Amino acid sequence: METINLHRNENNYGPAPACYDVLKMPDKNLFYYYSQAYKEGIKSILSKRLANDFNIDEDRVILGYGAEDILKQLVQCYLGPGQKLMVPSFSWWYYKKIADEVDGINIEYPLSKGEDSFYYDVDKILFIIKKEKPKLVLISSPNNPTGNSLSGEDLDLILTELKDTVVALDEAYWSNNNNDHVTNLVNKFPNLVIIRSFSKYYALAGIRIGYAIIGQNLTKLAGIANRYLGFNQLSEEIAIAALDSPEYYEDLVAKMNADKESYYKELGALPGFTVFKSDANFVLVEVPKQIMEPLKEFLTKREIIIKFMNEEVLNSHLRITIGTQEQNRKVIDAIKEFAY
Ligand SMILES: Cc1ncc(COP(=O)(O)O)c(C=O)c1O
Repeated sequence: METINLHRNENNYGPAPACYDVLKMPDKNLFYYYSQAYKEGIKSILSKRLANDFNIDEDRVILGYGAEDILKQLVQCYLGPGQKLMVPSFSWWYYKKIADEVDGINIEYPLSKGEDSFYYDVDKILFIIKKEKPKLVLISSPNNPTGNSLSGEDLDLILTELKDTVVALDEAYWSNNNNDHVTNLVNKFPNLVIIRSFSKYYALAGIRIGYAIIGQNLTKLAGIANRYLGFNQLSEEIAIAALDSPEYYEDLVAKMNADKESYYKELGALPGFTVFKSDANFVLVEVPKQIMEPLKEFLTKREIIIKFMNEEVLNSHLRITIGTQEQNRKVIDAIKEFAY
Protein backbone atom coordinates (compact mmCIF):
# COMPACT_ATOMS: atom_id res chain seq x y z
CA MET A 1 0.00 0.00 0.00
CA GLU A 2 1.46 3.35 -0.99
CA THR A 3 1.32 6.07 1.64
CA ILE A 4 -0.92 9.00 0.72
CA ASN A 5 0.79 12.14 2.01
CA LEU A 6 -1.74 14.92 2.32
CA HIS A 7 -0.47 16.73 5.40
CA ARG A 8 1.91 19.39 4.05
CA ASN A 9 0.02 20.99 1.18
CA GLU A 10 2.36 19.65 -1.46
CA ASN A 11 1.07 19.11 -4.96
CA ASN A 12 0.79 15.35 -5.50
CA TYR A 13 0.36 15.58 -9.26
CA GLY A 14 3.99 16.57 -9.61
CA PRO A 15 5.42 19.20 -11.92
CA ALA A 16 4.96 19.68 -15.67
CA PRO A 17 6.90 17.12 -17.79
CA ALA A 18 9.11 19.94 -19.12
CA CYS A 19 10.60 20.28 -15.61
CA TYR A 20 12.00 16.74 -15.80
CA ASP A 21 13.34 17.40 -19.29
CA VAL A 22 15.79 19.91 -17.77
CA LEU A 23 17.50 16.99 -16.03
CA LYS A 24 17.52 14.85 -19.19
CA MET A 25 19.59 17.40 -21.11
CA PRO A 26 22.07 18.68 -18.56
CA ASP A 27 24.23 21.60 -19.55
CA LYS A 28 27.69 21.35 -17.95
CA ASN A 29 27.71 25.10 -17.32
CA LEU A 30 24.92 24.58 -14.80
CA PHE A 31 27.27 22.37 -12.80
CA TYR A 32 30.81 23.69 -13.27
CA TYR A 33 30.35 27.40 -12.98
CA TYR A 34 28.66 30.11 -11.02
CA SER A 35 25.84 31.78 -12.89
CA GLN A 36 27.04 33.95 -15.73
CA ALA A 37 23.85 35.98 -15.84
CA TYR A 38 25.85 39.10 -14.91
CA LYS A 39 27.40 39.02 -18.37
CA GLU A 40 23.98 39.87 -19.75
CA GLY A 41 23.54 42.65 -17.21
CA ILE A 42 20.90 40.75 -15.21
CA LYS A 43 20.81 39.27 -11.69
CA SER A 44 19.50 35.86 -12.68
CA ILE A 45 17.70 34.24 -15.58
CA LEU A 46 14.75 33.46 -13.32
CA SER A 47 14.36 36.92 -11.79
CA LYS A 48 14.68 38.41 -15.28
CA ARG A 49 11.99 36.05 -16.54
CA LEU A 50 9.68 36.92 -13.64
CA ALA A 51 10.34 40.63 -14.20
CA ASN A 52 9.14 40.20 -17.79
CA ASP A 53 6.09 38.18 -16.71
CA PHE A 54 5.14 40.79 -14.09
CA ASN A 55 6.07 43.73 -16.29
CA ILE A 56 8.35 45.24 -13.65
CA ASP A 57 12.08 46.05 -13.30
CA GLU A 58 14.29 43.12 -12.35
CA ASP A 59 15.44 45.10 -9.28
CA ARG A 60 11.91 44.67 -7.94
CA VAL A 61 12.07 40.86 -8.08
CA ILE A 62 13.86 38.92 -5.39
CA LEU A 63 14.50 35.20 -5.16
CA GLY A 64 14.87 33.01 -2.11
CA TYR A 65 15.24 29.44 -0.93
CA GLY A 66 11.45 29.08 -0.86
CA ALA A 67 8.93 31.61 0.45
CA GLU A 68 10.15 30.59 3.90
CA ASP A 69 13.53 32.13 3.19
CA ILE A 70 12.01 35.34 1.89
CA LEU A 71 9.96 35.71 5.09
CA LYS A 72 13.17 35.16 7.06
CA GLN A 73 15.03 37.82 5.09
CA LEU A 74 12.16 40.23 5.49
CA VAL A 75 12.14 39.90 9.25
CA GLN A 76 15.93 40.18 9.46
CA CYS A 77 15.68 43.34 7.40
CA TYR A 78 12.69 45.16 8.89
CA LEU A 79 12.07 43.90 12.43
CA GLY A 80 14.35 44.73 15.33
CA PRO A 81 14.40 43.62 18.99
CA GLY A 82 11.24 44.70 20.81
CA GLN A 83 9.48 45.69 17.59
CA LYS A 84 6.10 44.25 16.68
CA LEU A 85 5.20 41.80 13.94
CA MET A 86 1.49 41.19 13.27
CA VAL A 87 0.34 37.82 11.97
CA PRO A 88 -3.07 36.15 11.55
CA SER A 89 -4.24 34.21 14.61
CA PHE A 90 -4.73 31.09 12.52
CA SER A 91 -1.72 30.82 10.29
CA TRP A 92 1.15 28.66 9.12
CA TRP A 93 2.96 27.72 12.38
CA TYR A 94 6.22 29.35 11.23
CA TYR A 95 4.61 32.82 11.23
CA LYS A 96 4.45 32.71 15.01
CA LYS A 97 8.11 31.81 15.35
CA ILE A 98 9.62 34.38 13.00
CA ALA A 99 9.58 37.34 15.39
CA ASP A 100 11.64 35.29 17.91
CA GLU A 101 14.48 35.06 15.38
CA VAL A 102 15.20 38.77 15.86
CA ASP A 103 13.84 39.13 19.43
CA GLY A 104 10.77 40.86 18.04
CA ILE A 105 7.26 40.68 19.51
CA ASN A 106 4.54 38.58 17.90
CA ILE A 107 1.05 40.13 17.86
CA GLU A 108 -1.93 38.27 16.45
CA TYR A 109 -4.94 39.66 14.66
CA PRO A 110 -8.04 37.49 14.49
CA LEU A 111 -9.57 35.63 11.59
CA SER A 112 -13.32 35.36 11.92
CA LYS A 113 -15.41 32.28 11.29
CA GLY A 114 -18.32 32.67 8.88
CA GLU A 115 -20.94 30.07 8.06
CA ASP A 116 -18.95 28.19 5.44
CA SER A 117 -15.61 30.00 5.38
CA PHE A 118 -13.24 32.04 7.48
CA TYR A 119 -12.70 35.70 6.66
CA TYR A 120 -10.43 38.62 7.46
CA ASP A 121 -12.35 41.22 9.48
CA VAL A 122 -10.86 44.44 8.18
CA ASP A 123 -12.30 46.70 10.90
CA LYS A 124 -10.80 44.52 13.62
CA ILE A 125 -7.48 44.35 11.83
CA LEU A 126 -7.33 48.13 11.43
CA PHE A 127 -8.28 48.63 15.07
CA ILE A 128 -5.43 46.39 16.25
CA ILE A 129 -2.96 47.95 13.83
CA LYS A 130 -3.76 51.45 15.15
CA LYS A 131 -3.38 50.26 18.73
CA GLU A 132 -0.23 48.20 18.35
CA LYS A 133 1.62 50.16 15.65
CA PRO A 134 3.46 47.15 14.23
CA LYS A 135 6.67 47.49 12.25
CA LEU A 136 5.79 44.62 9.96
CA VAL A 137 2.48 42.94 9.06
CA LEU A 138 2.02 39.53 7.45
CA ILE A 139 -1.13 38.70 5.55
CA SER A 140 -1.58 35.34 3.94
CA SER A 141 -3.99 35.00 1.03
CA PRO A 142 -5.18 32.32 0.64
CA ASN A 143 -4.41 31.66 4.27
CA ASN A 144 -3.03 28.43 5.69
CA PRO A 145 -4.87 26.61 7.32
CA THR A 146 -8.21 28.37 6.85
CA GLY A 147 -8.10 28.59 3.02
CA ASN A 148 -9.79 32.00 2.76
CA SER A 149 -8.47 34.94 0.74
CA LEU A 150 -8.47 38.66 1.34
CA SER A 151 -10.38 40.57 -1.34
CA GLY A 152 -8.64 43.22 -3.42
CA GLU A 153 -10.79 46.00 -1.93
CA ASP A 154 -10.11 44.93 1.66
CA LEU A 155 -6.41 44.68 0.98
CA ASP A 156 -6.46 48.16 -0.48
CA LEU A 157 -8.23 49.48 2.64
CA ILE A 158 -5.60 47.94 4.92
CA LEU A 159 -2.64 49.05 2.84
CA THR A 160 -3.94 52.60 2.59
CA GLU A 161 -3.95 52.79 6.41
CA LEU A 162 -0.50 51.26 6.66
CA LYS A 163 1.52 53.70 4.63
CA ASP A 164 4.66 53.55 6.82
CA THR A 165 4.57 49.88 7.78
CA VAL A 166 6.13 47.12 5.73
CA VAL A 167 3.43 44.65 4.70
CA ALA A 168 4.06 41.19 3.29
CA LEU A 169 1.28 39.52 1.37
CA ASP A 170 2.09 35.82 1.28
CA GLU A 171 0.51 34.32 -1.83
CA ALA A 172 2.19 30.91 -1.55
CA TYR A 173 -1.23 29.36 -2.34
CA TRP A 174 -2.35 31.51 -5.26
CA SER A 175 -3.63 29.37 -8.13
CA ASN A 176 -3.95 31.21 -11.39
CA ASN A 177 -1.82 32.74 -14.09
CA ASN A 178 -3.07 36.28 -13.63
CA ASN A 179 -0.28 38.54 -12.39
CA ASP A 180 -1.87 41.95 -12.95
CA HIS A 181 -2.98 42.60 -9.38
CA VAL A 182 0.54 41.92 -8.09
CA THR A 183 2.17 44.55 -10.27
CA ASN A 184 -0.62 47.07 -9.71
CA LEU A 185 -0.43 46.68 -5.94
CA VAL A 186 3.34 46.92 -5.55
CA ASN A 187 3.37 49.95 -7.84
CA LYS A 188 0.70 51.61 -5.71
CA PHE A 189 2.10 50.66 -2.27
CA PRO A 190 5.89 51.16 -2.01
CA ASN A 191 6.23 49.25 1.29
CA LEU A 192 4.47 46.12 0.05
CA VAL A 193 6.11 42.75 -0.66
CA ILE A 194 4.12 40.05 -2.46
CA ILE A 195 5.60 36.61 -1.90
CA ARG A 196 5.07 33.57 -4.09
CA SER A 197 6.41 30.05 -4.09
CA PHE A 198 7.17 27.36 -6.63
CA SER A 199 6.30 24.75 -4.00
CA LYS A 200 2.51 24.55 -4.24
CA TYR A 201 0.95 25.55 -7.58
CA TYR A 202 4.01 24.40 -9.54
CA ALA A 203 4.53 21.19 -7.52
CA LEU A 204 8.21 22.00 -7.01
CA ALA A 205 8.62 22.07 -3.22
CA GLY A 206 11.86 20.12 -3.54
CA ILE A 207 13.72 22.64 -5.70
CA ARG A 208 13.29 25.34 -3.00
CA ILE A 209 12.50 28.46 -4.94
CA GLY A 210 10.33 31.34 -3.83
CA TYR A 211 10.19 34.87 -5.11
CA ALA A 212 8.78 38.22 -4.21
CA ILE A 213 7.76 41.30 -6.12
CA ILE A 214 8.57 44.30 -3.97
CA GLY A 215 7.52 47.93 -3.62
CA GLN A 216 10.01 50.61 -4.54
CA ASN A 217 10.90 51.64 -0.96
CA LEU A 218 12.24 48.21 -0.10
CA THR A 219 15.73 48.60 -1.51
CA LYS A 220 17.35 47.25 1.66
CA LEU A 221 15.56 43.94 1.17
CA ALA A 222 16.55 43.89 -2.51
CA GLY A 223 20.19 44.37 -1.49
CA ILE A 224 20.15 41.64 1.16
CA ALA A 225 18.38 39.18 -1.13
CA ASN A 226 20.91 39.66 -3.91
CA ARG A 227 23.39 36.78 -4.34
CA TYR A 228 26.58 37.90 -6.02
CA LEU A 229 27.51 34.35 -7.01
CA GLY A 230 24.03 33.59 -8.29
CA PHE A 231 21.30 31.15 -7.32
CA ASN A 232 20.83 27.42 -7.82
CA GLN A 233 21.03 27.25 -11.60
CA LEU A 234 19.32 23.87 -11.89
CA SER A 235 16.39 25.08 -9.80
CA GLU A 236 16.15 28.21 -11.91
CA GLU A 237 15.97 26.18 -15.14
CA ILE A 238 13.33 23.88 -13.68
CA ALA A 239 11.29 26.83 -12.44
CA ILE A 240 11.40 28.42 -15.90
CA ALA A 241 10.21 25.14 -17.45
CA ALA A 242 7.24 25.30 -15.08
CA LEU A 243 6.49 28.91 -16.04
CA ASP A 244 6.54 27.76 -19.67
CA SER A 245 3.83 25.14 -19.02
CA PRO A 246 0.72 27.15 -18.05
CA GLU A 247 -1.81 24.72 -19.60
CA TYR A 248 -0.50 21.82 -17.54
CA TYR A 249 -1.05 23.75 -14.31
CA GLU A 250 -4.42 25.19 -15.31
CA ASP A 251 -5.61 21.65 -15.87
CA LEU A 252 -4.44 20.59 -12.38
CA VAL A 253 -6.25 23.49 -10.75
CA ALA A 254 -9.47 22.55 -12.57
CA LYS A 255 -9.15 18.96 -11.29
CA MET A 256 -8.42 20.12 -7.74
CA ASN A 257 -11.34 22.55 -7.76
CA ALA A 258 -13.68 19.78 -8.86
CA ASP A 259 -12.39 17.57 -6.04
CA LYS A 260 -12.81 20.36 -3.50
CA GLU A 261 -16.50 20.34 -4.42
CA SER A 262 -16.62 16.63 -3.55
CA TYR A 263 -15.05 17.37 -0.17
CA TYR A 264 -17.60 20.12 0.54
CA LYS A 265 -20.51 17.96 -0.54
CA GLU A 266 -19.58 14.53 0.75
CA LEU A 267 -17.70 15.30 3.98
CA GLY A 268 -19.94 18.32 4.61
CA ALA A 269 -22.91 15.91 4.75
CA LEU A 270 -21.41 13.87 7.63
CA PRO A 271 -22.87 14.54 11.08
CA GLY A 272 -20.93 17.23 12.95
CA PHE A 273 -18.60 17.97 10.00
CA THR A 274 -18.09 21.45 8.49
CA VAL A 275 -15.88 21.81 5.44
CA PHE A 276 -14.76 25.42 5.04
CA LYS A 277 -14.62 26.92 1.55
CA SER A 278 -11.02 27.20 0.46
CA ASP A 279 -9.19 29.04 -2.32
CA ALA A 280 -6.07 26.95 -1.68
CA ASN A 281 -4.91 23.40 -2.41
CA PHE A 282 -6.31 22.11 0.89
CA VAL A 283 -9.53 22.16 2.88
CA LEU A 284 -10.04 22.73 6.59
CA VAL A 285 -12.64 20.44 8.12
CA GLU A 286 -14.14 20.86 11.59
CA VAL A 287 -15.16 17.52 13.11
CA PRO A 288 -16.54 16.36 16.47
CA LYS A 289 -13.58 16.56 18.85
CA GLN A 290 -14.05 13.04 20.18
CA ILE A 291 -13.37 11.48 16.77
CA MET A 292 -9.96 13.13 16.29
CA GLU A 293 -7.89 10.35 17.88
CA PRO A 294 -9.84 7.33 16.54
CA LEU A 295 -10.01 8.85 13.06
CA LYS A 296 -6.27 9.43 13.09
CA GLU A 297 -5.69 5.80 14.04
CA PHE A 298 -8.11 4.59 11.37
CA LEU A 299 -6.50 6.63 8.60
CA THR A 300 -2.96 5.83 9.72
CA LYS A 301 -3.70 2.10 9.36
CA ARG A 302 -4.65 2.85 5.75
CA GLU A 303 -1.52 4.88 5.28
CA ILE A 304 -3.47 8.07 4.73
CA ILE A 305 -1.65 11.00 6.31
CA ILE A 306 -3.57 14.23 6.79
CA LYS A 307 -2.99 17.03 9.28
CA PHE A 308 -4.81 16.76 12.59
CA MET A 309 -4.67 20.32 13.92
CA ASN A 310 -3.57 20.60 17.51
CA GLU A 311 -3.48 24.32 18.16
CA GLU A 312 -5.14 25.98 21.11
CA VAL A 313 -8.29 26.95 19.25
CA LEU A 314 -8.10 24.87 16.08
CA ASN A 315 -8.02 21.51 17.79
CA SER A 316 -10.99 19.67 16.35
CA HIS A 317 -10.01 20.33 12.77
CA LEU A 318 -8.41 18.40 9.95
CA ARG A 319 -6.44 20.07 7.19
CA ILE A 320 -6.52 17.88 4.12
CA THR A 321 -4.31 18.66 1.15
CA ILE A 322 -6.10 18.17 -2.17
CA GLY A 323 -4.24 15.27 -3.77
CA THR A 324 -4.73 13.53 -7.08
CA GLN A 325 -8.27 12.50 -8.05
CA GLU A 326 -7.51 8.92 -7.06
CA GLN A 327 -6.10 9.96 -3.66
CA ASN A 328 -9.00 12.29 -2.92
CA ARG A 329 -11.52 9.55 -3.64
CA LYS A 330 -9.71 7.18 -1.25
CA VAL A 331 -9.61 9.80 1.51
CA ILE A 332 -13.26 10.79 1.17
CA ASP A 333 -14.38 7.15 1.07
CA ALA A 334 -12.23 6.22 4.07
CA ILE A 335 -13.57 9.10 6.19
CA LYS A 336 -17.14 8.25 5.20
CA GLU A 337 -16.56 4.60 6.07
CA PHE A 338 -15.24 5.68 9.49
CA ALA A 339 -18.13 8.07 10.12
CA TYR A 340 -20.97 5.68 9.25
C1 LIG B 1 1.50 30.25 4.07
C2 LIG B 1 2.80 29.61 3.66
N1 LIG B 1 3.77 30.38 3.18
C3 LIG B 1 4.95 29.84 2.81
C4 LIG B 1 5.18 28.49 2.92
C5 LIG B 1 6.52 27.94 2.53
O1 LIG B 1 6.71 27.94 1.15
P1 LIG B 1 8.11 27.50 0.53
O2 LIG B 1 8.04 26.03 0.27
O3 LIG B 1 8.21 28.29 -0.74
O4 LIG B 1 9.19 27.85 1.50
C6 LIG B 1 4.20 27.64 3.42
C7 LIG B 1 4.45 26.18 3.53
O5 LIG B 1 3.62 25.38 3.78
C8 LIG B 1 2.98 28.23 3.80
O6 LIG B 1 1.99 27.47 4.30
